[in-house]
Amino acid sequence: MSNPVAIHTLSGISRLAGVMGWPVSHSKSPRLQGYWLAKYGVDGSYMPLPVAPENFAASVRALRDLGFAGVNVTIPFKQAVFTVCDELSDRAKRIGAVNTVTFSADGKILGDNTDGFGFIENLRQSVPDIDFSSGPAVILGAGGASRAVIVALLDENCPQIRLTNRTAKRAHNLADEIGDDRITVVNGPIGDADLCDASLLVNTTSLGMVGQPALEIDLAGLAQNTIVTDIVYAPLKTDLLLQAEARGNQVVDGLGMLLHQARPGFHKWFGIDPVVTSALREFVLSPV
Ligand code: ATR
Repeated sequence: MSNPVAIHTLSGISRLAGVMGWPVSHSKSPRLQGYWLAKYGVDGSYMPLPVAPENFAASVRALRDLGFAGVNVTIPFKQAVFTVCDELSDRAKRIGAVNTVTFSADGKILGDNTDGFGFIENLRQSVPDIDFSSGPAVILGAGGASRAVIVALLDENCPQIRLTNRTAKRAHNLADEIGDDRITVVNGPIGDADLCDASLLVNTTSLGMVGQPALEIDLAGLAQNTIVTDIVYAPLKTDLLLQAEARGNQVVDGLGMLLHQARPGFHKWFGIDPVVTSALREFVLSPV
């Protein structure tokens, strides 16, 4: 008799990975990585791993000792994991946080940060002819996500970053820490002079997210060819994107950044560079 239920089994040599967070129940990573595992028929598993902060360092080492291939690390561990890693990628050092850990064959804990990669790849997939070196980028916000976005844009030869933040001091500190003279901190709200020749406008704050205050910005002075993107993906079309779209600007939502940042981990742990498709987008957004 045929079995109508799809059976997922592991073998004795399955590759294991997961996401460590506290809490971790909100994470979309198990669903995302699980989709690719099924799609590519991988003998492996990706698990949610809730870990209390006091157990974090010991748990990372325990996963290595248990033979895991690696883990994603999310809030609140993206910085704490730094000290647990034996080696850090150049971009993880510059971003100041780790989101992807791989255990090497000789037991080393290797830390990487793929958030900036996800940001760039999302824009490349949505706007294939995008040229990050074509003009200034305006960045709203100076938190962890902002840092990943700025480092990635600088690596793509962006000629100028105009950075603004509610707490100006934090923007100045971030600019000093990254230490690249292409970063200019804009004190106070972004104005027409900052927007009129921008190639890219990015919201890296939590404003506009479900349950958060609205992002207030006047786009009247924005150039017509400025690409506008938001790292917020709930809602998919934030007010910023709706406003920009209504003016005729090209917009890119933030879901793709989440999906693309997961690719390097999947590749390292399971051996396949997975594809981000519209079917994956729908699957990740659909209720469990
Ligand atoms: P993440 O690591 O996700 O970037 P974060 O480090 O908490 O998160 O940064 C959140 C960003 O959203 C910051 O730029 C923050 O501004 P402040 O540095 O002034 O706190 C910004 N942000 C959050 N709530 C805000 C609000 N109500 N108004 C303006 N900016 C806000």
